Amino acid sequence: MKTPTKSRKRGTPAPVEAGQATRPKRSKVALPVPSPITPAVMAGVLAKHRGKPGELLGILEELQTLHPHKFLPLATLEEVAEQTGVPASQVFSVATFYTFFNLKPQGEHTLVVCRGTACHTRGSKARLQTLKRILNLKEEEGAEKVFLTTDDKRFTLKTVACFGQCALAPVVEVDGRMRSHVTEVCLKELVDGLTRGGKRK
Ligand code: FES
Repeated sequence: MKTPTKSRKRGTPAPVEAGQATRPKRSKVALPVPSPITPAVMAGVLAKHRGKPGELLGILEELQTLHPHKFLPLATLEEVAEQTGVPASQVFSVATFYTFFNLKPQGEHTLVVCRGTACHTRGSKARLQTLKRILNLKEEEGAEKVFLTTDDKRFTLKTVACFGQCALAPVVEVDGRMRSHVTEVCLKELVDGLTRGGKRK
């Protein structure tokens, strides 16, 4: 004869029998931000730029802007190649050639310190060290360029060879806006303001 099962209210955990092993609780794992580049979004972006001069650049720029972490994931580049018929090697070389494009996730705010000759002679190295100290960032050993993101993903600090604004040295770009003749004091104020001010616009 079949042993009758006791009815249990929905959502009530089953009683643990003596000797029965209890399952360890599953820890919560933070899921990655879902990509906003759905097939429909991709189709819209491609249609918007189709046949226009600089089509590929326009597509990549818009897709990067749409990503919450302002970068172009590998899958996005592959999709662009597939959908446009442009060879993947060409799409990758465009994305890697222009410093504007990011292949790694960015923090909410991006600070780019110019390390060109004019900026260097006017103290850009010291400005870079100041920012690393303020943001508590440690440089990757042997890295040619700086590309560091804070643990809380609020700030990304990068370097660039030259912005072409040498007369304004030292130059630091903050969230796409060029800041000229930057001093240590103004950098501290900038970071303080961004820390208090919340998300990137
Ligand atoms: S060296 Fe910094 S803008 Fe040219």
